[in-house]
Amino acid sequence: MRTWEECRAFFSQFREQYHTTGSILPSSRALARALTRPLRASKPPRRILEVGPGTGAVTREIVRCLRPGDQLDIVEINPKFAAIVEQRFAHEKDFHAKRGLVRIICAPIQQLPGAAWYDFMISGIPLNNFSLELVDSIFQSYQRLLQPEGVLSYFEYLAIRQMKMAFADAEERRRLQALSDYLGRKIRRYQFAADVVLLNIPPAVARHFCFAPSGVNPDERSR
Ligand SMILES: C[S@@+](CC[C@H](N)C(=O)[O-])C[C@H]1O[C@@H](n2cnc3c(N)ncnc32)[C@H](O)[C@@H]1O
Repeated sequence: MRTWEECRAFFSQFREQYHTTGSILPSSRALARALTRPLRASKPPRRILEVGPGTGAVTREIVRCLRPGDQLDIVEINPKFAAIVEQRFAHEKDFHAKRGLVRIICAPIQQLPGAAWYDFMISGIPLNNFSLELVDSIFQSYQRLLQPEGVLSYFEYLAIRQMKMAFADAEERRRLQALSDYLGRKIRRYQFAADVVLLNIPPAVARHFCFAPSGVNPDERSR
């Protein structure tokens, strides 16, 4: 898929499904590299879940990391994005080579069954667009599906909540403030590393979480 085709497909879903798509462009290679940093530092076999692949910008980087014995599940709420990712695995050489290690599931992550299954989870869900209740149910799914010492990597755009707040009405400001407080608590409790990525539109931060009791440093674990 050429870059301009990918951007066009992404933008069309931004217009059709603004709420769940959450941005106008797919992530840059730099952001995809930052999100896959813990995965690249680990050894197979690994169970990996990508949440919200969109057009596959981060998937491409995950696929590069896949080795025999790995299993990648991809869960996507938007059927049009899921179909694009299917097509990439069917037709693009790098994707196709790893097809046997991959499952694509068209559903919201909250409906994925199971518990304590994945070693790595890489999520593109646009949390800032959702109600606090929905964000909480998404985090509950992250925690349920990850192994206790598994790693969640996700991103948010830099200072986006503060910018939105400047133009929001009172009710929207309350929602964004509640979300900031909620995510701030999660970050203080579970984040073990973060990468600021300026080479992305807009600039972003990739956050890496481990839900294991404190004292475990996933960077030092040998996998
Ligand atoms: C900001 S886009 C990120 C796309 C891609 N990961 C990237 O970085 O370019 C958000 C993606 O999350 C998907 N999404 C939103 N809510 C979801 C949910 N509850 N479960 C699964 N996917 C979801 C959207 O359809 C979209 O593909």
